[in-house]
Amino acid sequence: MQLNTKLNASITAVGGYVPEHRLLNKNLEQIVDTNDEWIQSRTGIKERRILKDPSKATSFLAIQASKNLISKNNIDPLTIDMVIVATTTPDMQIAATAAYVASEIGSYNAFGYDLQAACSGFLFAMSMASGKIESGRYKKVLVVGADKMSSVIDYKDRSTCILFGDGAGAVLFESNNEGLGWQDEYFKSNGDGRESLNVKAGGSLFPATSTTISNRDHYLRQDGRKVFKTAVSAMSDASSTILKRNNLVGEDIDYLVAHQANERIIESIAKRMSLKPSKVLKNIAKYGNTTAATIPLLLYDFQNKFKRGNKIIFAAFGGGFTWGAAYYIWSK
Ligand code: UT7
Repeated sequence: MQLNTKLNASITAVGGYVPEHRLLNKNLEQIVDTNDEWIQSRTGIKERRILKDPSKATSFLAIQASKNLISKNNIDPLTIDMVIVATTTPDMQIAATAAYVASEIGSYNAFGYDLQAACSGFLFAMSMASGKIESGRYKKVLVVGADKMSSVIDYKDRSTCILFGDGAGAVLFESNNEGLGWQDEYFKSNGDGRESLNVKAGGSLFPATSTTISNRDHYLRQDGRKVFKTAVSAMSDASSTILKRNNLVGEDIDYLVAHQANERIIESIAKRMSLKPSKVLKNIAKYGNTTAATIPLLLYDFQNKFKRGNKIIFAAFGGGFTWGAAYYIWSK
């Protein structure tokens, strides 16, 4: 076999975790004016997982997913050089959640930081990890996508509370000298989108006051229709740019691993890429939108399906707006 001198970054281990508590559509029917039929037909979601214990935060989800990866793959946490936690619901302002996660999993030789790009966070974090591995300076980089979305969801707002759930997924990146792994990426952002999807208060623009609290400004709000339309066109455009740039057509792709925000969004992108339904991975029915955790939870749930050499397109869209697509060849 011919070995490349260029180092690629590839995923060598996968882990995941979702909390036990299942919030069903019929439970939401008791809280807001909605119904199972509407939720399933408009979003594809049947249930989501909720971290009920108020003393546990996003770090708990991230630690469980990381420990799952470490134990299943017999990894010595001391060999991990770097931990990136993609999250939009960090445990606290200022103190990086990743630093806490690294310590709690016993990765005392690693440094850690958080990456906030909402639902595109994990996709962007995989790119950061790949760059570090390709540089040759780091051997093992742990990338975690974790969000306790229930901490920012208004359970009085039927247009958002039906969509989101809590969860975490993790992958380990190491070098690959056979040309497999991370191949190409096309990432974009547009700050005009921040009016259409945000948690308005709690940052430096609107620090917490009694007014922000009484206005319920610490909860996620979005213009669903606008986000939907923009997500479909942005993810489709990014995916087709990646295909073209790598001389690929839909038929060449084995799997689409796309952010799980709405089943209709995923299906629209797949259609625009001319992908057969069997190539489109989905677990939104079980977990809803877990923000930075959707992509690693897909990798976790479907890891036994992937074969060495499979061509994968990752795609995501989220608050900011942020979005993009990446081309990846499975190496395990
Ligand atoms: O990851 C990035 C973050 N977010 C997303 O990607 C979400 C993108 N947007 C969406 O997924 C969809 O826009 C939603 C699922 C949020 C909404 O679906 P939609 O088909 O765009 O519905 P809509 O907002 O146009 O509302 C249609 C109707 C409205 O009633 P009227 O005005 O037609 O009488 C809503 O009030 O459905 C109503 N509605 C509901 N009805 C029952 C909105 N939410 C609900 C609900 N149950 N939960």
